[in-house]
Amino acid sequence: MVTDRGLSKASFIKEIEHILKAFSLDFGIFSGVRPNPIGATVESGVQVYLEGNHDGVIAIGGGSSLDTGKAIAFMSGQSESLWNYAMADFSNADGLARIVNVNGIAPVISVPTTAGTGSEIGRAAAIVDESLSVKKALFHKHLMPRACIADPELTLELPGDLTAATGMDALSHNIEAFCCPFLHPMSDGLAIEGMRLIKEALPRAVSDGTDLQARSDMLAASILGGGAFQKGVGAMHALSHPCSGIFDLHHGLVNAVLMPYVLKHNATLPSVDHKLTAAARYLDLKNPSTAAMVQWTIDLRKSIGIPNTLSDLGVEIEDIQRLAPMASADVCSGENPLPLTTETCAELYHDAITGNLE
Ligand SMILES: [Fe+2]
Repeated sequence: MVTDRGLSKASFIKEIEHILKAFSLDFGIFSGVRPNPIGATVESGVQVYLEGNHDGVIAIGGGSSLDTGKAIAFMSGQSESLWNYAMADFSNADGLARIVNVNGIAPVISVPTTAGTGSEIGRAAAIVDESLSVKKALFHKHLMPRACIADPELTLELPGDLTAATGMDALSHNIEAFCCPFLHPMSDGLAIEGMRLIKEALPRAVSDGTDLQARSDMLAASILGGGAFQKGVGAMHALSHPCSGIFDLHHGLVNAVLMPYVLKHNATLPSVDHKLTAAARYLDLKNPSTAAMVQWTIDLRKSIGIPNTLSDLGVEIEDIQRLAPMASADVCSGENPLPLTTETCAELYHDAITGNLE
């Protein structure tokens, strides 16, 4: 079992232990997961995995635990080091696929305790290369968990601020996938229903954490988002990753702050304007349009206590010079509807730091 230290003491983990023991199944616990997991976290986990002679991973927790568990399962049977497989971009994806030992990828069962990451059903694991402060992605179809146990009761104790930030990650997946220009009509269907569930359920889940229906709908929206973003994401993720890599900021929180600035920028493209208008119509917003979608995201953020600017999170104008080239080179940059040059990323960061939506 792979989880973080806090969760390793939770009563439901004890229940899982009892069940495993009752079936005479040997297990061990690796509870060294940290937020924005780094390469060293994965290495320690692989060591525990190999020493325990395990044959699979149960990844329990939020996105960091799920991604760490998946990365441990992947690295448990590979011959090269992690950074020879984890990509900063997709330029060498085919070459990487050829060096992966597919039989060396251990099976994973995912058990999400937050609603947002999508990693519970996804093919990727995001790990920070600590020597470069760069968030990289392991990406392989066999990284997809063999089973996902999505039980909303496990999310009931998630505090309001984390419910808000992870829920906004789910929204960013659904909106970015919906606007992503690649062809994947199934993805669009998942994404638009994911947005609708979030509109109804996220404010309720934040204001009353014990609302099981809202928690259940948010888990469904997370999984819909995880399915939808197999098509791709975009600038929210490309600009968010360097902020997590350098400042260790929460992924969903940064995405939430970036959201209206990115939407407004991307909607200068008529095809995105058209899609956002269609989404606004489905969400039953007044005067359905891109402007209505942007305003909805601003109002939603405000109602669940998420700040308006990156400077509220401690990111300042002088950081742009370092962040912008990293965002432009990010693994998600090429999925955005408009090209993300270093200059464009710098402008978007500037807007998000100063709160400029003109
Ligand atoms: Fe995300």
